[in-house]
Amino acid sequence: MDIVKVGIVGVGNIGEHHSRNIYESPLCKLMAVCDIDPKAFKRVYAPAQAETKCFTDLDRFLAEGDMDLVIIAVPHYDHPSIAIKAMNAGKHIIVEKPIAVHKAAAEELIREGAKHPELVQSAMFCQREYNAHKVIKRLIDQGELGRITRINWIITNWFRSQRYYDSGDWRASWRGEGGGVLLNQCPHQLDLMQWFFGMPCKVRAAVKFGKYHDIEVEDEVNAYLEYPDGTVGNFIASTGEMPGTNRLEITAEKGRLVYENGVLEFLRNEQETSVFCRNTESSFGVLQPWKCTIPYEPDTISIHRLILENVARAILHGEKLIAPMAEGIRGLELGNAMLLSGWKDCDITLPIDGADFEERLNKLIATSRYQKKTVAAEVDENSMQKSFGNN
Ligand SMILES: NC(=O)c1ccc[n+]([C@@H]2O[C@H](COP(=O)([O-])OP(=O)(O)OC[C@H]3O[C@@H](n4cnc5c(N)ncnc54)[C@H](O)[C@@H]3O)[C@@H](O)[C@H]2O)c1
Repeated sequence: MDIVKVGIVGVGNIGEHHSRNIYESPLCKLMAVCDIDPKAFKRVYAPAQAETKCFTDLDRFLAEGDMDLVIIAVPHYDHPSIAIKAMNAGKHIIVEKPIAVHKAAAEELIREGAKHPELVQSAMFCQREYNAHKVIKRLIDQGELGRITRINWIITNWFRSQRYYDSGDWRASWRGEGGGVLLNQCPHQLDLMQWFFGMPCKVRAAVKFGKYHDIEVEDEVNAYLEYPDGTVGNFIASTGEMPGTNRLEITAEKGRLVYENGVLEFLRNEQETSVFCRNTESSFGVLQPWKCTIPYEPDTISIHRLILENVARAILHGEKLIAPMAEGIRGLELGNAMLLSGWKDCDITLPIDGADFEERLNKLIATSRYQKKTVAAEVDENSMQKSFGNN
């Protein structure tokens, strides 16, 4: 095998992007797509349409799609069940973020995945592939910053209008989506938080639901984190602010690293802060830091394509995964912990009680305004395939 045959479940905003990446990758070939709404099929990248089979039925897609790899790009609640079905049908998988809506569902997905060690299982945590993020990870892992004392991440440049929330009937309701800014916009940052810094042991958060929009779920979060080694953190997210900020500030013994507006700047201390603090004879003096702008290569390739091709090479040649699916539970648990803290108005110790979270979510689902639509009852797959030249 020198090419990976790929299928996509869910051809919406991101599924459309995946179809183009698959078409353009020399390692992959788009074989089939599946969507409950046949109107979605016209979103398949135009040059790929003629050779792509279209299905509205998942079982037929899995049985007849002739694929090695399936990308799951439907709304979050369905990620685990579709991923499990695809694995049971012998398909390698890439699961879009978040891998599930809550910890217990992610645990079940990972348990089922463990029954298929022969299959490559990845999550679409593509932001691990931004060159700046790779440099930050390397600086931390190589000890260039020294012990980290404080992490501040303000990620409020996720502004979304009311129209955005109204654009998909599943969006921003407990029943349809299962969460807001923590579950839809921030899974990348929550994944990066755990990828860079590991997991905190305690979380306290103030969470606002529908503060800026007519939605059921959270659109503002102010969270405080504590780590086992004493590091503290603040994670601030919103979809209601304009202009927004994306500023990651890491204060450490050897200085302060800031990533903002595409610039990675390190203010480097001549001595570690705690050494200077113990030894200086001055009561008020501080050392003047050296200002270093850390270079990194510009991002020229779609980060989603980089994950796709990493998975293709993992299937073809056993390459190590950049974002193993099982790691997806960590950022998810972090977001769940913030929501749980907001709901209970108290500190949350990690690991969280996944059953407690699920029970609280189920109560909200029971009173959710959103009712799932039964989509396009009768679909003529054959005529759809004909229009794409499949017959
Ligand atoms: N990695 C990223 O950067 C990234 C970016 C955007 C979206 N996403 C994730 O991708 C997922 C989809 O988001 P989107 O913005 O593309 O949504 P969307 O609403 O634009 O598209 C979802 C598509 O899935 C279809 N669908 C729904 N349920 C289905 C089912 N059970 N079987 C088959 N098809 C089904 C819908 O008809 C729709 O065409 C979300 O989980 C989101 O978090 C990830």
